[in-house]
Amino acid sequence: MIIPIKSSILNYQIVLEKDILYKAKEYLNLNCKVLIISDDNIPNTYLEIIKKQCLNPFVYLITAGEKSKNITNYQKIISFMMSHHFSRKDAIVALGGGVVGDLSGFISATYMRGITFYNIPTSLLAQVDSSIGGKTAIDFHNYKNIIGAFKPANMVLIDPNTLKTLDIRQLHAGLVEVIKMALTCDSSLFEIIEKSEDLFYDIDFIIYKALLIKKNIVEQDEKENNIRKVLNFGHTIGHAIESYFDMTLLHGECVGLGMLYMMPNDLKERVIKILKKYNLPTTIDFDIDKLLKLIYLDKKSIDNKIDIVFVKEIGTYEIRNIKISDLKNYLKGEIPS
Ligand SMILES: NC(=O)c1ccc[n+]([C@@H]2O[C@H](COP(=O)([O-])OP(=O)(O)OC[C@H]3O[C@@H](n4cnc5c(N)ncnc54)[C@H](O)[C@@H]3O)[C@@H](O)[C@H]2O)c1
Repeated sequence: MIIPIKSSILNYQIVLEKDILYKAKEYLNLNCKVLIISDDNIPNTYLEIIKKQCLNPFVYLITAGEKSKNITNYQKIISFMMSHHFSRKDAIVALGGGVVGDLSGFISATYMRGITFYNIPTSLLAQVDSSIGGKTAIDFHNYKNIIGAFKPANMVLIDPNTLKTLDIRQLHAGLVEVIKMALTCDSSLFEIIEKSEDLFYDIDFIIYKALLIKKNIVEQDEKENNIRKVLNFGHTIGHAIESYFDMTLLHGECVGLGMLYMMPNDLKERVIKILKKYNLPTTIDFDIDKLLKLIYLDKKSIDNKIDIVFVKEIGTYEIRNIKISDLKNYLKGEIPS
């Protein structure tokens, strides 16, 4: 399945197909120097499959995990490319999850003012979310994604079969981003996830539907001036929970919890059932004032106010600009209508 994405920077395509890894060179120009950036947790077989298709492959492995999305790795990889005389005619392939994709994308945006970038996302989160829409970034001084650029990949290849090796907890955490899109934008996708009895059986269609939602959003609002904010549903409280618990919970797990504070009780019951089905947390204890302090540090807050996304009915959403202090009511379950 080919999904074209329009962007003011570059129109590109997403190709979604099982085992497309083996056919990468049919879609990507690999007849140049190719730097494959991956992490040390991605199965080596994937790396070998891509490497074999490149005329002149180079590999750079980072340590798996968010901590690797940093300026030191950025500098090391740029130095590596310089020492191997990479030019603008060459290419970078990101092979991995959102960490590899965001870092590789940012390098490709800035090396020689821009070099070809192909993204082969292998985690569910990366397949449905981070590989589309052109956001690339690294973290700096404990601030996530504080240095970055808009740089869509020239092509995105999604092979759902790679999810078979993904840790099940990571898979389920990635599914939260799909539930987020379904809750805000597509009630039919919500019902598919709700009724699904075998996630692997349904996953291709679920990825496809999620990609269509994200396509629709980023094509209308590439730089997040208005509707792209809907993708932050669950994230304001989710990010704070992530920091509160010192990153011991996965991002998707925290977003799932964060979403629950942003919907009425009847809907919450339905969402909790789905989260439980995938062993995702549905309750967590924290000190509300301490959590609020973390939300004041959120880089999306302006003058102690923040945009939050609220879902009253599945497939619809409201963006509310509220005082951060008023979030206390949401956290207590006393939600203003
Ligand atoms: N650019 C965007 O629009 C955007 C959107 C959402 C999230 N993000 C970013 O994405 C990152 C999170 O991405 P993530 O959840 O993919 O985390 P990740 O990249 O850390 O991957 C999670 C883990 O899964 C492993 N993994 C990935 N694919 C695998 C596979 N097929 N088989 C076995 N192991 C595999 C990785 O090695 C890693 O250990 C964060 O840095 C976040 O800021 C970016």
